[in-house]
Amino acid sequence: GKDGYRHYMEKELHEHPVAIGQTLQRITDPAAKTIALPELPFNPADVPRVTITACGSAFYAGMVGRYWLESLARMPVEIDVASEMRYREAPQPNKGVALLISQSGETADTLGVLRSLKKEGQSIVSVLNVEHSTMGRESDVVLGMVAGPEISVASTKAFTAQLSVLAALSIEFARARGTIDQAQEEKLTASLLDLPSKAAEVFTRVEDIQAMARVVAEARDVLYLGRGICTPIAYEGALKLKEISYIHAEAYAAGELKHGPISLIDRTVPVVAIAPSTILFEKTLSNLQEAKARGGRILAFTDAEGAKKLKGVAEVIVTLPDVDAFVAPILYAIPVQILAYEVALLKGTDVDQPRNLAKSVTVE
Ligand code: F6R
Repeated sequence: GKDGYRHYMEKELHEHPVAIGQTLQRITDPAAKTIALPELPFNPADVPRVTITACGSAFYAGMVGRYWLESLARMPVEIDVASEMRYREAPQPNKGVALLISQSGETADTLGVLRSLKKEGQSIVSVLNVEHSTMGRESDVVLGMVAGPEISVASTKAFTAQLSVLAALSIEFARARGTIDQAQEEKLTASLLDLPSKAAEVFTRVEDIQAMARVVAEARDVLYLGRGICTPIAYEGALKLKEISYIHAEAYAAGELKHGPISLIDRTVPVVAIAPSTILFEKTLSNLQEAKARGGRILAFTDAEGAKKLKGVAEVIVTLPDVDAFVAPILYAIPVQILAYEVALLKGTDVDQPRNLAKSVTVE
């Protein structure tokens, strides 16, 4: 049941801390502050490329994973949505690894890519919530998220659980490839293990998120901006808003604003910024100032340091707990999803069963 929550989505949003915590419990050694994944059938040092494929929110988790694998493990990464990857006829490298991400393990396009990349000789690693699924059976290695059942059509806790697995995998690859030392591994792992308590703290900011939701709920179009590893979180925010509140939203890497979308901006098109002070902040800030100068209403997710600098620029600021830049995309995903939920409540939509959507897309 819903345990007294109004919707499954609300319940599942509150399960973020537990989903992250339980997932990490399986794949870390908390005492040693090291990563302890199941054994991989290849040596990451010999892998020439990882090919990441998924759909929807799981694809955005994969985009974050690309930043981690590239920057921490110096691992070349190819990524696309499954419906495109399936028909691209892209060349696959010898000894390559295919990384599939799926909550359900049944998504038709992702499964299609799994099968074709397996034929191309790639090792198949899947990040799944439902481990006893078709994808689970057909993979060489399953990295399980421990998010528990997700009933709401919109994915919530599975997203942060996916990110937790991808973060751990990136640390593991970095260790094997010799791109981080033990002290760095311990520091990165500690910042992951700290996440459940930081995630719980996000819920003390709900009133500020509601203030933001009142602005968003009046809009017909909303722009989400992020930079670097927070760009996929902007995509996730825009997808969730469209999906459950039926308000049109688009996400951009903030640096792209002046290459087109800035012409959309006026008082009626709010700009939601994913802007932790630790990630290319000054650059994002200057993009937000440009948007404000064109009459845009700026709504920002940031931390205490960022909030100081956003004063006078942003109309609503949600100040989140301080976290290491490494885990910021995981933490910031939570308030971004809560925002979509709060807007949907104001709009009175069917939050758990948005129109035209199914939980698991088993047809192409
Ligand atoms: C968005 C959402 C969808 C799924 C996508 C992939 O809130 O739920 O975009 O993320 O359909 O589903 P799985 O992860 O089951 O492959």
